Amino acid sequence: MMHSHIVGIGGYLPERIMTNHDLEKIVDTSDSWIRERTGISRRHIIGREQATSDMAAAAARQALADAGLTINDIDALIVATTTPDMIFPSTATIVQSKLDGKDFPAWDIQAVCSGFVYGLAHADCMIRAGMFRRVLLIGSEAMSRIVDWTDRTTCVLFGDGAGAVVLEGREQEGGVVGSVLHADGAYRDLLKAEHAHGHASPDSFHREGIDFATDAAGIAAVEMKGNEVFRVAVTKLGEVVNEILQRYELEDKDIDWLIPHQANIRIIQATARKLGMDMQRVAQTVKDHGNTSSASVPLALNELYRSGQLQPGQTILLEAFAGGFAWGANLIKWTKQGFSNGT
Ligand code: ACO
Repeated sequence: MMHSHIVGIGGYLPERIMTNHDLEKIVDTSDSWIRERTGISRRHIIGREQATSDMAAAAARQALADAGLTINDIDALIVATTTPDMIFPSTATIVQSKLDGKDFPAWDIQAVCSGFVYGLAHADCMIRAGMFRRVLLIGSEAMSRIVDWTDRTTCVLFGDGAGAVVLEGREQEGGVVGSVLHADGAYRDLLKAEHAHGHASPDSFHREGIDFATDAAGIAAVEMKGNEVFRVAVTKLGEVVNEILQRYELEDKDIDWLIPHQANIRIIQATARKLGMDMQRVAQTVKDHGNTSSASVPLALNELYRSGQLQPGQTILLEAFAGGFAWGANLIKWTKQGFSNGT
């Protein structure tokens, strides 16, 4: 029987960093408010001439190099994104071309901040079914292009970046144990954005060095009822981590690492408490990345991996909650050798 193993991991964060103090110049907010309510201190902002596909390609190159593979060793490419370069073609086909890939299928999936967790479930099922041997899965987001930079209740929360993994089917035990996915569209109005806008946009409204999705005509972007989202997120994430442990007959104590979606440190802490986990065993990048939507889980995984702390035999739990609402979790029995000092 085939199991999907992560054999390569990569990440990309744009050069430009926007601190909370930089935000104080744009909206009526303060560094202390943002840190206390969200745990965020800074976030990366995509360059003016860059697109979601550029960040995705950069993360993919690192993941392929880490796996010792080239793009044409890949059998399928999936990009999870909320901020596609264009409505069509898919960002995945653009990434394929930027990486000089040929012929293999490439497509996008959209589950907002849960995109990577959903994508991992898709890729795992297709590998187990024998459809593909190697899948390149990327989460890439230019959230700064779809936030309303005049709305202090949302613009302080998000950041840009990309994370990628190469999955490979092997008969060896371990790898992805399984996934649990959920959605409930009855909640769709609590968190939404009505326009896609991930492409490089030299003509867009430009202030303080960032591109504003909200142009002079005031086109709306991310809208969120933060309090209500917070409440449902904590409940559903608590339920989904219990559900996945029960389904695969594991207990809280069996989890070595929690790699949560990085939306808000208070949501992360609540899920860790539910699992009885020490925060030392929880990947935390929200402070430096903000909420990078579908990129947040693979970016957190990449940081943990490159810190050398992930070891073969460890069990890791990924989880995410997103607009829709759409949420889910994946369990992985880690098999890749620990990374140390770039070797
Ligand atoms: N700076 C200063 N004050 C602010 C800011 C800001 N950036 N934003 C809001 N405030 C004010 C509000 O206006 C309000 O003022 P008032 O009391 O005078 O009316 C006060 O701060 C408290 O506002 P709340 O909304 O109650 O603050 P809360 O503690 O709920 O924190 C937050 C807001 C951080 C957004 C929180 O609700 C949250 O994290 N929600 C969940 C976000 C999330 O997880 N999203 C899911 C994934 S995202 C995705 O899928 C794309």
